Amino acid sequence: MRIILYTGKGGVGKTTVSAATALACARRGQRTIVLSTDAAHSLADLFNRPIGPEPIRVAKNLDVCEIEVHHELAKNWGTIRAYIKHFLASRGYGEVIADELSVLPGMEDLFSLLRLLELEESGGYDVAVIDCAPTGATLQLLGFADVFDWYMNRFFDIERKLVRVIRPMAERVIKAPLPGDEVFGQIEQLYQRMMAIKNLLTDPERASVRLVLNPEKMVIAESRRAFTCLCLYGYPVDAIVVNRLLPPEAGGYLDDWLKAQKEHLDFIRVAFGSLPQLQCRLFPREMVGLEAVKQVGAEIFAAHEPGAVLANHRPFDLEPENGFYKMRLHLPGVSKKEVELLVKENELIITAAGYRRHILLPRQLEGYLVAKARLDGDQFHVLFTKDSA
Ligand SMILES: Nc1ncnc2c1ncn2[C@@H]1O[C@H](COP(=O)(O)OP(=O)(O)O)[C@@H](O)[C@H]1O
Ligand SMILES: [Mg+2]
Repeated sequence: MRIILYTGKGGVGKTTVSAATALACARRGQRTIVLSTDAAHSLADLFNRPIGPEPIRVAKNLDVCEIEVHHELAKNWGTIRAYIKHFLASRGYGEVIADELSVLPGMEDLFSLLRLLELEESGGYDVAVIDCAPTGATLQLLGFADVFDWYMNRFFDIERKLVRVIRPMAERVIKAPLPGDEVFGQIEQLYQRMMAIKNLLTDPERASVRLVLNPEKMVIAESRRAFTCLCLYGYPVDAIVVNRLLPPEAGGYLDDWLKAQKEHLDFIRVAFGSLPQLQCRLFPREMVGLEAVKQVGAEIFAAHEPGAVLANHRPFDLEPENGFYKMRLHLPGVSKKEVELLVKENELIITAAGYRRHILLPRQLEGYLVAKARLDGDQFHVLFTKDSA
């Protein structure tokens, strides 16, 4: 199954572009599903019909569903959530508040990714298009996979054992329940799923992220940061979609806008380098309904296959070379000053433009040290040599 995720700042056209991509794939005969993970669901408005957490057919080969966080929580995370609620209640929070608080921000994304994994395993679709929440939340979630990995590798077993030992006494002292073994079990299960999702989404042959943006200063700035961050975490970006371009005939009253957009477009070309750029005009009306969505798709994919991998940047690789190991990370949009590398036992901590990633070094690098690191254009290289001490 081919997976395409769309993200970008609020209101740039993610939902419209996601639906247009999905419909374009469906019209080419691919069994397609579009999932919305944005809490502010709008696929229902777009397709003019109610859409729920179970897939419904909106056109030939095209299913749609909107992830509903409470529904998925009950399904996937019942035990952990019951614990969080129980814990909050013991701290004096009322039932309703505890219920709301047990939904953490970014969970829609998490659950739609879990759902994505189920879809992948079911084999029922050729293409899945994900209409993600605005940039920040998506990035947080993708970064969360790493933090989760880090935590699970370091503390999980220790904590689980510790809780078993201290429970009888600790619960009396802190007057709150500690998580039981079934909670740890569910965390472990969730962790396994999360890692499977990560493997899926970091595989450039199966998954791509596309950034939707508008030719406006703030939007471009946010998209650039997102691009850097996605690369840092190893998620393959295969295109940008520049939406709401003013056509030349919009001149006259909108002359200044046209001029500004032209400058922004020049900048976008530089900022996103070799990434393919898909474009869509600003239509003279809201793009609602199947016919409008089809029109948007025709415009965006005039020269590209909607479901294809449009660029095959490998964000990350690690290769042996004459007794050394060379690691390469695609890291666009940062200057030397903004990159920092720290090595700590078996992990590499890379900070770039304010984002930080902990990379657990693979086994084969045990006993190796970082000999050199340099940023060459938009590629960050790290050379490992055998520790001779
Ligand atoms: N190229 C376009 N031309 C005209 N209207 C558009 C275009 N792209 C998006 N829109 C409209 O802009 C609004 C916001 O788009 P939407 O896809 O919901 O953005 P997002 O999902 O990023 O918040 C919708 O009303 C949509 O119909
Ligand atoms: Mg939307």
